[in-house]
Amino acid sequence: MRDEESRFESRYRLLRDAMSEGFCVVEVLFDADGKPQDGILREVNRAYELQTGRVQAVGRRISELAPDLQDAWIQAFGGVARTGQPARFEQRAATAGKWYEVHAFRWGESQQGLVGVLFNDITQRKLDELMAQSVLDYAIVLLDPAGHVRSWNAGAQRIKGYTPEEIVGRSSSVFYLPEDAAAGRPARVLALAAESGRYEEEGWRVRRDGSRFWASVSVAPLHDSDGRLQGFVKVTRDLSERKSADDGLRAEVHERMRAQEQLHALNERLEAEVAARTADLTRANTDLLETRERLRELSARLIRAHEQERGRIARDFHDGTGQFLALLRMRLADLSRDVGEARVQPSTELVKQVIDHTRRLGLILRPIALDDLGLEAALESMVEQQAALTGWSATYDGALGERRFADEVETACFRIAQEALTNAARYADASEVRVSLAIGGEELVLQVADNGRGFDVEHYQTPEERATHFGLVSMEERAGLVGARLSIDSAPGRGTRVTAHFPLEARPG
Ligand SMILES: Nc1ncnc2c1ncn2[C@@H]1O[C@H](COP(=O)(O)OP(=O)(O)OP(=O)(O)O)[C@@H](O)[C@H]1O
Ligand SMILES: [Mg+2]
Repeated sequence: MRDEESRFESRYRLLRDAMSEGFCVVEVLFDADGKPQDGILREVNRAYELQTGRVQAVGRRISELAPDLQDAWIQAFGGVARTGQPARFEQRAATAGKWYEVHAFRWGESQQGLVGVLFNDITQRKLDELMAQSVLDYAIVLLDPAGHVRSWNAGAQRIKGYTPEEIVGRSSSVFYLPEDAAAGRPARVLALAAESGRYEEEGWRVRRDGSRFWASVSVAPLHDSDGRLQGFVKVTRDLSERKSADDGLRAEVHERMRAQEQLHALNERLEAEVAARTADLTRANTDLLETRERLRELSARLIRAHEQERGRIARDFHDGTGQFLALLRMRLADLSRDVGEARVQPSTELVKQVIDHTRRLGLILRPIALDDLGLEAALESMVEQQAALTGWSATYDGALGERRFADEVETACFRIAQEALTNAARYADASEVRVSLAIGGEELVLQVADNGRGFDVEHYQTPEERATHFGLVSMEERAGLVGARLSIDSAPGRGTRVTAHFPLEARPG
């Protein structure tokens, strides 16, 4: 028995949710006087949710879900719940802008106050009706030049009451009040229309049954291609009907038109806003680019000033300290002749070390060769020095001779090579290092390669690593400032190769 019930229940649900009609069960709430007050939704199907766009409606009140429907619907549902008489009606839901066809019937036992409601969205059908209706609102009559009826539309039949068989061929003066017809008004109207191309008036007209109505009439002449009058089109509207027409539907159409206009206005506003925002963004972007450009300039200026200062100090070392030390060594040599080599030797050794140290320091600051002899000479001497320090076998390949490049390019190239070599000396544990400088196409190409342990380049790309290791970052920065491309190829166990391509058509840094 239980099985049977649950099978029934699941089939019921299946059917309910497969229906295209909206369906809900409403529990009608009555006040103390037995008047229906409100309703609570006890059950809804899928179509209910689709048609109303409301989910989770179960357990909520109609007054809350659709306040505008409350009165009409609750009264109707109350009647159904109380009497058990089903009800059918069409109702407009103003807030949703929709029309519904509703079928309500008692659900369950009479004392439960439950009503089953089936409904359908019939908005489109209503609008179609209105369209058809508006065609029926106008009597459109074709007259021959003498004013006899030639054709007759459905609206004319509805408004004036004649069938086409009854009226075609008869004079249009039957539509006028007898006194107007007697005074020659019908012919005058046609003559005025023929004369001025169009005639419009409001006035009394007469129906088939003799009753009169207030009409708006518009008459236009019809000419053939030679300009000969062929007849008239007469459009008449019964203005007394204006009021009785379905206000709800008219309101509906107006509402839709207004909504459309609002949408249009909204759209325009939106477009204007988008345009304004785009302009803002473009401006912000330009500002950003300018700021970035200024930063780049500043950075370039800083590096330049820095290099100049280093160069000055290096030159000081070389020309000042270096000369003094050389002098000191000569003096020591003199002295050794007097007091004997053995006494002076430790001091001579010390001075030699100081000279070496000073040279190295000068080189780190800025090799004088770079300014005086050019990039190639400076690089070559740096490679040699590093080899002497580290003991690796170093080769330098280059055939540029004394060719000079833009000051900034030379400096950037030298500094990148310097950092690459320093890194190789510190971390690579390499046995061999090759440095090359060549011209390829429109570019100056620097390469520094070691056969050491290599490293995971990706690992040093994270912001945290870049904040503590500056070498790779500064290489990139220096390359960027002169428009060069920098690439670092390395992997654990495979050595490291740093390559920089400098454009020779110097770009503004
Ligand atoms: N030729 C190389 N062989 C092996 N490892 C290298 C080589 N060059 C760089 N590395 C690795 O990459 C890391 C980052 O190098 P980077 O020059 O950016 O910083 P750093 O040398 O650690 O510090 P800084 O250059 O700021 O003194 C190094 O710590 C090292 O682990
Ligand atoms: Mg480094």
